[in-house]
Amino acid sequence: MPVDEPLLDRARQHAVRFLESLPDRHVGVRADRDTLLRGLSVPLSDDGEAAAAVVDALAAGADRGLIASAGPRYFGFVIGGTLPVSIAADWLTTVWDQNSGIYVTSPAASVVEDIVREWVLELLDLPRTSGVGFVTGCQMANFTALAAARHGVLRRAGWNVEERGLAGAPAVNLVVSAESHITVISSMRLLGFGTAALQPVETDDQGRMKPEALRALLEKLSGPTIICSQAGNVNTGAIDPMPELAAIAHEHEAWLHVDGAFGLWARASRSLRPLIDGVEFADSWATDAHKWLNVPYDSGIVIVRDSAAHRASMTVAAAYLEQTAGVERDEIDWVPEFSRRGRAFPLYAAIRHLGRRGVEAMIDRGCARAKQMAELLRKDSRVEILTDVVLNQVLVRFGRSDELTRAVVTRVQRDGTCWLGGTTWHGLAAMRISVSNWMTSEEDVERSASAILRSI
Ligand SMILES: Cc1ncc(COP(=O)(O)O)c(C=O)c1O
Repeated sequence: MPVDEPLLDRARQHAVRFLESLPDRHVGVRADRDTLLRGLSVPLSDDGEAAAAVVDALAAGADRGLIASAGPRYFGFVIGGTLPVSIAADWLTTVWDQNSGIYVTSPAASVVEDIVREWVLELLDLPRTSGVGFVTGCQMANFTALAAARHGVLRRAGWNVEERGLAGAPAVNLVVSAESHITVISSMRLLGFGTAALQPVETDDQGRMKPEALRALLEKLSGPTIICSQAGNVNTGAIDPMPELAAIAHEHEAWLHVDGAFGLWARASRSLRPLIDGVEFADSWATDAHKWLNVPYDSGIVIVRDSAAHRASMTVAAAYLEQTAGVERDEIDWVPEFSRRGRAFPLYAAIRHLGRRGVEAMIDRGCARAKQMAELLRKDSRVEILTDVVLNQVLVRFGRSDELTRAVVTRVQRDGTCWLGGTTWHGLAAMRISVSNWMTSEEDVERSASAILRSI
């Protein structure tokens, strides 16, 4: 089949134009649903259309509905951008179209996962023998880690959960931070535990789990126990007091899981490292690469100290699968998916390009810009910064008023200089700013802070 180079060039041109527009583009949405539908919706045809025309129509029709979340002044949720090197590797991943499920379907994908596994463990300085899986995001990383935890704690209680299921199994105590991310809760649901079984532990004014509250709860419990802590509260960036939590978990022989969607990357920074010391004593960790490591969606990483529990909770076998019995990595042993994208290629490119110091600089830069934003906003007497700025998250309130705070969020979103969202923090409406893009410059922060202050 001849390669349609003009078609690929056309797509490349659309992509380049989009990337070039990012620094100055209106950051939020520019069209409503009806307009987008009018631009994109056509009756399903019998015979299809020319490929080039379809690509042009898609690019034109989607444009006004695209959010510049890959750009330098998008501060919504916790959404990273894309390093050029990871975009390039992601393009190759698409073209190579490898099914990265087992070694046999793509030896290159398998070997690259092996390499990235080692790099990630080194960057985050976590136990080097851990199991590592490359999943779609932190939701699936939490799910996979907690499946391994379920296996681990029940195995110790003499129960093989993969074989026998949960009906009749010893009860598992499920202890979660009161500030746990919703994806920890949904993971528990998917694992068959049910949300009614979750036992929340009180947090402090920054959103950190209180060790004394954890200790008091565990003293009342017996039997298999999983504790879900977090490194990087989705609102405040606060990191749970890991050394204390780990010591308490170990005293009670509980499995300690850490949701570190973005906060775990503080491990890669020498200056931030003291904040997150002790996290290495946990049993499992979930993090994202599409957030702070700035690789394209979708990319999350699960890490489990007990690699046997990790593998046992995920692996499957079938007569037709030519799985390896040797050193080769079958990726499906570590993730819930079967057929899957070569998700480690962009990770490989990003980490190899940045190196240890490059990753550190990117993380440090995000934190510095968040502090800069807080300082610029704080100068206005109508602004209150609600919590400590420890990582890349800033929580802002205006005029001590829920109404004004929500109105400012809406006005800033409409203005389009930057984009950020609203939240409720301990009963108070707040603006939530997350600096997760490798491109965000001091000037971007200055422009954005001015736009926010103009909107009060
Ligand atoms: C602390 C935390 N955990 C989990 C998640 C879920 O991650 P993902 O959306 O990549 O599945 C997020 C997303 O913001 C998060 O901040």
